[in-house]
Amino acid sequence: MNITLNTQLPDTGELIIPISQTEALTNQLTEIANQLGLPESVLQRDFKADAKEVLPLYNPAGRKTYLLGLGKEPQEMDWLRIFRKFFFDQKAKLSTEVSINLTAFNPEVIEAVAIGVRWGGYDLKLYQTDKPEGPVFFSNAGQLTLYVQVDQLPTAQEALARAEAIAQTQRQMLDLMNAPANYKNPQTLADWTIASGNQYGYSVTVFDKDELERQRLGALLSVSQGSDVPPVLIIAEYKPEDIDNTIPRVGLVGKGVTFDTGGVSIKPSTNMHLMKSDMGGAAAVLGTVEVAAKLKLPIHVIGIVPATENAVDGRATKPGDVITSYIGKTIEVIDTDAEGRVILADGLGYMVRHYQPDVLIDLATLTGSVIATLGYHAAGLFTQNDDLANQLTKAANQTGERIWRLPIWDVYQEDIKSDVADLKNFSGKPIAGAISAAKFLEVFTEEHPAWAHLDIAGTAFADTEFGSQKNATGFGIRLLTNYLRTLSGKTRQE
Ligand code: BES
Ligand code: MN
Ligand code: ZN
Repeated sequence: MNITLNTQLPDTGELIIPISQTEALTNQLTEIANQLGLPESVLQRDFKADAKEVLPLYNPAGRKTYLLGLGKEPQEMDWLRIFRKFFFDQKAKLSTEVSINLTAFNPEVIEAVAIGVRWGGYDLKLYQTDKPEGPVFFSNAGQLTLYVQVDQLPTAQEALARAEAIAQTQRQMLDLMNAPANYKNPQTLADWTIASGNQYGYSVTVFDKDELERQRLGALLSVSQGSDVPPVLIIAEYKPEDIDNTIPRVGLVGKGVTFDTGGVSIKPSTNMHLMKSDMGGAAAVLGTVEVAAKLKLPIHVIGIVPATENAVDGRATKPGDVITSYIGKTIEVIDTDAEGRVILADGLGYMVRHYQPDVLIDLATLTGSVIATLGYHAAGLFTQNDDLANQLTKAANQTGERIWRLPIWDVYQEDIKSDVADLKNFSGKPIAGAISAAKFLEVFTEEHPAWAHLDIAGTAFADTEFGSQKNATGFGIRLLTNYLRTLSGKTRQE
C-alpha cells in the first residue's frame, strides 16, 4: 500500500471522514447528510462521534463513506489508535482506493494517522501455515490518499516521511518482540542491528562471549551462564557529520533479555511464555537509533544493548552467588529473576566509561512492581534530574506514551545493601520493587548528572486489538524520537 498526499479529494474509492465531538458536530452532520442525499435526522441519531465509532454510508451513486468518531479533543495517540483499529477491523472490506479527509489538522495528526494506518495492517499470524491472502488494500495495489490543504503540504510531506520511517522500524520491532525464543536469541538482535547499521549508515559493534570475557562484563556473563545461547553486547552509534557540539550526546541503554525463565529462582509457569518479550527496552533503543539515522537527526546517539537469555541449567548462577560487574562493583545475586538490573549494570557501566553521554537513558521491562503500581497504562520514570524529568514527560505527553515519575530517594539504598558484597540485586521484600531496582541501576551510572530510567514492564507488552494474548506495543520509539527531535532543535509545532 502506498500513501500519498493530495490537495484534491479523489471521487472514487472509499472516503473516511474523521469527526470529533465538538459544538460543530450537528452542523457537520447536516452538511454530510446533504452531500450524500441522506435524511439528516437519521444521521444525527445514528452517529455520536464517540471514539472509534464507525458509520458506513453510501451516496446515491453507491460510493462508500465512513464516518469515523474521534471522541472529545482527540490527542495524537487517540488518532493513532483510532485509525489503527479502523484499518485493522475494516481491512477486508476496503478496496484498493481509500482516502482520508485530513484538512485543517496539524502535521502531528498526519503523522499519527499514517502510523496508525500502517500499523492496522499488522498481524500476529507470522507462524500460521494456511494464512489466507492478505487484504487487497494492504497489497502493492493499495492506494491511500491523505487529503490536505495546499498550505499544509510542505509540513504534511515531512510528517508523512517521518511516519513512514517510524512505522517501518516499529513494525520490525513488533516482530522481534512477538517472536518466540526459538525464533530469536541475542545474536538475532545483533544481526538485525548490523543489517540496519549497514543500510542506514551508522556503526555497529557486537561483542561476542569471548570479547565479553576479555573485557570482563561479568554481570552480563553471569546471567547468561545457564543458557545454551551465547550473550552479546550490541553497540550502535549514530554520529552525523558536522555535529553541533552544543547539542547533547545521548546514550540509550536497553534491556535485551530474549527470554526470562527467572533462572534458578524460576518463575511460575502460568505466564512465563510472555517472557519472550523481555527485550522491550532493547527494541525501543535499537528502533530509536535506526529512526534517528533514517531521519538524519543532527544529534549523536549511542545505543547499548546487553542481550542474553535468562535460562536455567547446571551452570546457571545460583542465589547467593557473588559476581563482579564491569565497573568492578560486586553484586550478591539474591534472586536470579532480578536479572535485568544485573545486565543493565554492565550496559550502563560500559556506556558511562566509554562514551560519556551528556544524557543517559535506560529502558527496561524491569519489574512486576511497576505494573502493580501503574498498571499497563504508564511506564515508571526514575531520575534525580528535574529538567530531564520534565523534558521526557513533555515528549511522552505529546506522543501519548504515558510516563509517571516515581521517587528514588536515598532512603531506599537500604534495600540493596549486601552483607557480603558491594550491593545485592533484591531486597528480599515484596515492597517498592521498582524503586529499589532503579536504586540498583543508579550505582552503575557512576553519579551521572542526567540519567533517567524508564521501567516499561507494563507498557511494552500489553492487550491490543491484534490478539487475545498480550503482544508488543512498540512503546518508547515515538517517545524517544520525539525527545531527540526536540534536543536537536527540530522542534515540532505546538
Ligand atoms: N522481566 C521481569 C519483569 C517483568 C514482569 C516484565 C512482568 C514484564 C512483565 C524481571 O526480570 C523480573 O523477573 N523481575 C522480578 C524481580 C524480583 C525477583 C525482584 C519481579 O518483578 O518480580
Ligand atoms: Mn526476571
Ligand atoms: Zn526479566
